[in-house]
Amino acid sequence: MILHKFKNQAELDRVAADLMMSVVRGRPNAVLGMATGGSPVGLYQEMVKSYKQGLISFKEVRTFNLDEYVGLAVTHPESYRSFMQRNLFDHIDIDIKNTHVPNGNAADIEAECRRYDEALYQQGPVDMQLLGIGHNGHIGFNEPDTTLSRFTHKVTLKEDTREANKRFFNSLDEVPTHAVTMGMGSILHAKSILLVVKGQEKAEILDRTLNGPITTQVPATLLQTHPRVIVLTDCDVNYKLSHS
Ligand code: PGA
Repeated sequence: MILHKFKNQAELDRVAADLMMSVVRGRPNAVLGMATGGSPVGLYQEMVKSYKQGLISFKEVRTFNLDEYVGLAVTHPESYRSFMQRNLFDHIDIDIKNTHVPNGNAADIEAECRRYDEALYQQGPVDMQLLGIGHNGHIGFNEPDTTLSRFTHKVTLKEDTREANKRFFNSLDEVPTHAVTMGMGSILHAKSILLVVKGQEKAEILDRTLNGPITTQVPATLLQTHPRVIVLTDCDVNYKLSHS
């Protein structure tokens, strides 16, 4: 893993956006893996800014989002489809039919998971997968567990995850209890991974991600096995390259 530390989040967002856009400049029909939550908002703003300045086009880009809530109307402002439209897709020249977010309202969720993986594996591998990290070390919605799933699947959200996401809703009761997420196998299949971690309260889990033992109880530690992970953070952490 390569760790870059930043003093301010604006600079981090700029570098993160530049990394994603350099993939698109190198391959105009690149496949980008997208994330939601607080971490990517600033970098999406930077991508929109560059597009509006005429510096980049997303016309042929294809995207796959990590996850979506189950049972939340797609038109709900906190559905991840709505999030992506509001924060990025509505403001750039991407073709909406090339943007993929799992359908959390499918009548048959199992079939939807299979359909999502088929599209992902047909169009992939993802050139660059953007990731945030949960306080409990989840990646996408792959929550800590004794085993982790390889493919896209339905998950029960941990209470600490629902608590963390309560800030986007009126109350905890409104936070969905289930989600569909890409599996760890699909995430690790990406050619490169860009992990964005903001806020000193994430320093401890980021330290475990970088330096701790690899364990399914901290899904983010599996990133240690991937050959091309770039970590951008404003946390005060270090990456230990040896046992000492
Ligand atoms: P955050 O969430 O970016 O809103 O902190 C990240 C995550 O839970 O994966």
